[in-house]
Amino acid sequence: MTTRIAVIGLGAIAVEHLGAYQKNENAELVAVCDIDVERAKARAEQFGVPRATGDVAEILADAEVDAVSICVPNTLHAPIAEAALRAGKDVLVEKPMTVTVGEAERLVAAVEETGKALQIGYVRRFAPNAQVTKRFLDEGEFGDIYAARATLLRSAGNPGGWFGDVDLSGGGPLIDLGVHIIDLCWYLMGMPKAVAVSGATFAPLGARDNIRHLTRYRAASAARPNTVEDYATAQIRFENGAVLNVDTSYSLHGRNEISVRIHGEKGGAEIEPELLMVTERHDTLLHVQPQIDSLGFDFQAGFANQIDHFLRICRGEIPADATAEQGLEMARMLSAIYESARAGAEVTITR
Ligand SMILES: NC(=O)c1ccc[n+]([C@@H]2O[C@H](COP(=O)([O-])OP(=O)(O)OC[C@H]3O[C@@H](n4cnc5c(N)ncnc54)[C@H](O)[C@@H]3O)[C@@H](O)[C@H]2O)c1
Repeated sequence: MTTRIAVIGLGAIAVEHLGAYQKNENAELVAVCDIDVERAKARAEQFGVPRATGDVAEILADAEVDAVSICVPNTLHAPIAEAALRAGKDVLVEKPMTVTVGEAERLVAAVEETGKALQIGYVRRFAPNAQVTKRFLDEGEFGDIYAARATLLRSAGNPGGWFGDVDLSGGGPLIDLGVHIIDLCWYLMGMPKAVAVSGATFAPLGARDNIRHLTRYRAASAARPNTVEDYATAQIRFENGAVLNVDTSYSLHGRNEISVRIHGEKGGAEIEPELLMVTERHDTLLHVQPQIDSLGFDFQAGFANQIDHFLRICRGEIPADATAEQGLEMARMLSAIYESARAGAEVTITR
């Protein structure tokens, strides 16, 4: 059974969605939509999609569209996702699901009321290095996870466009990069409820557009406002006593770095930059390196797996598992980090 798909928002990440749908025999790309109609037409041609439009409402009113991928700037996720659910579409929405707690609560309600599926685009969960770690976790190899550390630092990596405009992005590296690695740790920690957060943000360097001879990820739009933080750091405490430390930047006097680690009572794992398990046997420390195709984050495999998984959700074979409730928990954590940074004090998360 094929699912008829429309992709809304056709910038950089939409190319990954379109490519993965195009290669999947269970999907039929029926329409693409971007406020920039010329871009919509170009993407339609690039991926052989029969229809291109600049009007989201036209896509949502189309009974021949079963499901949508939402790949627009962050603050547009919530209104478009809610309208899509209420129009009877299943939804794959890019991360972060929403930028506020209130919007996330509305999406939880919309899922409940419509019975349609909402899946968040947490692609890192679908990369083989994360899936192998999850399997070992589920088999009890690491025991309870009580600490995790997530680091994603770019020294000059503000993508520009809407990413630098807080009114469209909802925030800087924390909400853009941090959300990926916070989610990966949180997912592997068993998704405990966050109870308190201490965070700080800084913006002394700006977008660093003066830096030359360095290729960086760029948003599709040419605008380069900068009203977001350069760097964010936080500690999140969970009701089971576990803690997650996060460090993330667009601009920093420091080297680029990615590191995602979880630490349990029986063992631990470094998921990034390369999968490595760390444990103890017979009074000896062991480093265990799985033999898999890619020890790091395999973006292509992650996307293919994520899209295939979403299509199974659309066919009703499995329920959504990166759910709106999880998006609400993430919104609570991210909002509390920004609130703590503003207040200069720990913030308690209440429900
Ligand atoms: N999963 C990942 O690894 C990953 C990577 C990058 C970006 N993202 C997420 O994907 C989303 C898009 O990011 P991007 O890098 O592709 O940005 P982008 O700027 O390259 O593309 C955004 C597109 O949305 C279009 N758009 C804006 N307003 C619209 C509207 N009202 N209706 C229809 N189209 C509209 C823009 O014209 C543009 O083509 C963001 O939420 C971002 O956080 C995810």
